[in-house]
Amino acid sequence: MSKRILVMNGPNLNLLGIREPGIYGTDTLESLCEQVKEAATAYGATVDCFQSNHEGALIDALHAAMGVYDGIILNAGAYTHYSYAIRDAIAAIKLPVVEVHLSDIHAREPFRHVSVIEPVCVAQISGLGVGSYLKALELVCGEETI
Ligand code: DQA
Repeated sequence: MSKRILVMNGPNLNLLGIREPGIYGTDTLESLCEQVKEAATAYGATVDCFQSNHEGALIDALHAAMGVYDGIILNAGAYTHYSYAIRDAIAAIKLPVVEVHLSDIHAREPFRHVSVIEPVCVAQISGLGVGSYLKALELVCGEETI
């Protein structure tokens, strides 16, 4: 059965391409999503992309993913560092969620070193740019052990 994967991006990631390109690169969010969709064909998987700047909308999307998707690739943006509500939503839905970041959060400001969602995600992949999403796709498509 082909896997259905949801790629979720949180606040400010709609500005990819123009937002601090020295840190986040020059790819737009649309291009990032296209690259993940293209890579998914190799696994026979399908990918949908969702972005919101709003915590509640991200939580609603996590809830709605139950029974629809087989796995989630989540870049929660700054919510990563303090949203216990998103953490609780991930724990509630019982779907494998891979936490991703374009930049290396461990090599940046101290407040970014903490991820409150990491304990409820199956893996954290950080610092590989779009490659973080591609590596996460490998994981959720079962090509690597989580
Ligand atoms: C980010 C890292 C976060 O610290 C930051 O708030 C973001 C993007 C990343 O992809 O590198 O918005 O998640």
